[in-house]
Amino acid sequence: MTAHTPSFVFSQRAQKLTSSAIREILKVTTRPEVISFAGGLPSADGFPIEELRQAYDNVLATEGRQALQYGPTEGYRPLREWVAKDLSRDGLTVSPDEVLIVSGSQQALDMLGKLFIDPGSKVLVESPTYLGALQSFSLFEPEYVAIATDEQGLIPAEVSTAKAQGARFIYTLPNFQNPMGISLTAERRQELVERCAAAGIPVVEDDPYGELRYAGTPQPSLLALGRKAGATVIRLGSFSKVLAPGLRLGYIVAPVEIINKLVQIKQATDLHTAIVTQMAVYNAIQNGFLSRHLPVVRELYQRQCTYMLEALDAHFPDSVQWTKPEGGMFLWVTLPEQLDAERLLEKAIARNVAFVPGAPFYSGAGLKRNTLRLSFVTVSEEKIRKGIEILGQLIREELQA
Ligand SMILES: Cc1ncc(COP(=O)(O)O)c(C=O)c1O
Repeated sequence: MTAHTPSFVFSQRAQKLTSSAIREILKVTTRPEVISFAGGLPSADGFPIEELRQAYDNVLATEGRQALQYGPTEGYRPLREWVAKDLSRDGLTVSPDEVLIVSGSQQALDMLGKLFIDPGSKVLVESPTYLGALQSFSLFEPEYVAIATDEQGLIPAEVSTAKAQGARFIYTLPNFQNPMGISLTAERRQELVERCAAAGIPVVEDDPYGELRYAGTPQPSLLALGRKAGATVIRLGSFSKVLAPGLRLGYIVAPVEIINKLVQIKQATDLHTAIVTQMAVYNAIQNGFLSRHLPVVRELYQRQCTYMLEALDAHFPDSVQWTKPEGGMFLWVTLPEQLDAERLLEKAIARNVAFVPGAPFYSGAGLKRNTLRLSFVTVSEEKIRKGIEILGQLIREELQA
């Protein structure tokens, strides 16, 4: 038999894509006996199924021809107007022309990579940061500059002139960051936008979790602060965590010159985001539905977070630390330095508990192998207790080994 000769050649870009070892390990988390704190999914208990069913029905019954036709790349105008109005707070005015509707904020990350990153371009990212952003940006081969974080968010003094010099943008998650669950303090927000204004680098503010605050005081957006400080801020929003991720609906807010370029990129990508979905979501939210729905989701997530914090207090050794989120879906655990979370995961999986080790959330510098992310919104109270007890026991055993 002759050896098989491949009749295709992948681009160099595609050849560099690799499947991570962790992804392979986490495949087992779909087994029903596994208690998984690894997923990044919102709780399906918070999906407004009936309201969305009704909204799709309304749209198809009354505006079906428009809803099923091709639409404008920029997005459905009433939804852009809704987003602009919703963001016009904290002394900020946003024009609908500054809003581009996208198919989830993940698409926005890919489009921003296309717009700003050449091979070797400097991009500043929090350390650790959202893994999906690293995946999107890395296709365009940037040189990452890691900005250290602590429990108050990224450290603005780290955005030094030397680090910012020539950078294409800084990517930051100011609220209930994925993976750490931490938020940027008011003082740091102000200092960050001032530093970026002085350095002339755009701030990409990714904020899918900001509306899921269940404790503490809401902080002004970087968009609002940045406008006042003369910084260019590109804000990413999403309906994934406030309604449902299956809608694949998000938006970018940016100066019109940037939006115009992004429109060209989006045209080449997918022409436009599904109009029927944009119209249905607009139909559902136009009369204040979110102000009734969001408190339900916040309460649910707060309850879940409390179960997790109580279990950690009860079962983890004193030498382990974790963040205390005021919103969102994640918290971040720091183990004693001698423990490696990837090795711990293999042993945890053998006992049917899963989490995501911290390593893939780091762009390079500052990597801490003794960290891990726990997601608390999709697991029942009983399983949270049981899973954390098993993990706590395993950590104690590893510390004694
Ligand atoms: C920080 C962050 N940005 C963006 C996304 C992508 O969200 P979507 O594409 O569903 O809007 C996620 C999803 O988990 C996220 O955590």
